[in-house]
Amino acid sequence: MRLSVIGCGYLGAVHAATMASIGHDVIGIDVDSAKIESLGKGDTPFFEPGLEEILNEGLKSGRLRFSQDFADAADADVHFLAVGTPQQQGSDAADLRFVHAALDSLLPVLREGALVVGKSTVPVGTAEDLARRIEHTGATLVWNPEFLREGWAVQDTLAPDRIVVGVPQGAAGAEAADTLREVYRAASTPTTPFIVTDYATSELVKVAANAFLATKISFINAMAEIAEVTGADVSTLADALGHDTRIGRRFLGAGIGFGGGCLPKDIRALTARAEELGVGEAVAFLHEVDQINLRRRDRVVQLAEASLGGSVYQRRIAVLGAAFKPHSDDVRDSPGLDIAVRLHGLGADVIVTDPAATENARQRHPQLTYTTSLDDALRDAEIMILVTEWDEYRRELSPTHAASLMRGSYVIDGRNALDPVDWRGAGFEYQGMGRR
Ligand code: UGA
Repeated sequence: MRLSVIGCGYLGAVHAATMASIGHDVIGIDVDSAKIESLGKGDTPFFEPGLEEILNEGLKSGRLRFSQDFADAADADVHFLAVGTPQQQGSDAADLRFVHAALDSLLPVLREGALVVGKSTVPVGTAEDLARRIEHTGATLVWNPEFLREGWAVQDTLAPDRIVVGVPQGAAGAEAADTLREVYRAASTPTTPFIVTDYATSELVKVAANAFLATKISFINAMAEIAEVTGADVSTLADALGHDTRIGRRFLGAGIGFGGGCLPKDIRALTARAEELGVGEAVAFLHEVDQINLRRRDRVVQLAEASLGGSVYQRRIAVLGAAFKPHSDDVRDSPGLDIAVRLHGLGADVIVTDPAATENARQRHPQLTYTTSLDDALRDAEIMILVTEWDEYRRELSPTHAASLMRGSYVIDGRNALDPVDWRGAGFEYQGMGRR
């Protein structure tokens, strides 16, 4: 099928390349000339395992192209909207400016019978609005939220755990759902749940999923706070809870909490939208979820201060990690980087290392010192703080090697990813998050 993908950021670039890899003819459109040029040459503007291979395969086969010109999308049967919906400046609500701009540019080339498929994460009610905007063209609007995880984006797109499509009522909606079934045929199995619903439900599924995941993480972090004052161990607690299959162990990893371009902004946008709709109380708890999450960062700063006798001023601190999670170079709302910035603000001599994200981190926070060498980061450090659980730190870093480089012997494990016995055995004072 002929597809266009409008917006070639994280979501769009992955979607365009994976759709080409399953045999579609895809044109990716973006207003950013640098992005289009780099993707057109087969270079991915961000780190995502497996993406570069399928991008290059697609370009070579001729099934994947990139352009800045919306006229090049005119032939497509299905147009995916994959632009960003960041948090508005000075508000918790989502900024829909890019969604509307994309539609403005698409409208002149949109033909009767085509499908416009929204993939961006939007406040409930947006699809209804956009459907009205394209009504006169004879095209149909569908909402098809995306559930991919950074670091697993290609795999999640090629083998999704569910496909949700929000369609209008009537024959046009049924036909649109069939077209999307066809689009995703090679990226699903006969058992992949394919849920056809209305616009509002499809929009809500996405934010509700992220709100649930965020709540799960903050729940275990709230238990970590209690563990810290009672001497309980949150990792054992999470294991024990996780054996209940109704609860499950995933996303019960206590630590410095969630970050990234999705969970934090999505819980805030859902709260803002619910308030607009007069049902703010229904999700008032999400404010607490956010607060618990942010308190974990304070806790690390307090632990660092306590370990150095009350002040971090001019003390050398190695921060291991900058990305908001491993297998990603994304530093948006990274809790670890925020901790590094706060310590720097208190006068600490902070050095940050990360296998993939130092360049992105430097662009955002040029005041910090960065190195890609773990040894250089650890050399002469008084404290080591692990904030992103890359294998390089979790599995490959030996405590005795760290001890041979560091001046101090204090380790704060912001992800509960290290083995306390090993680190204590090497002479370190180990401090996890809610962990004995
Ligand atoms: C999240 C969702 O998991 C995806 O399903 C969704 O499609 C995506 O947002 C999106 O809206 O686009 P992602 O942001 O890639 O995906 O990251 P997650 O794997 O969900 O991790 C989010 C944060 O939670 C990370 O900072 C991670 O370190 C943290 N986390 C995760 C914990 O602190 N504890 C855990 O147990 C799990």
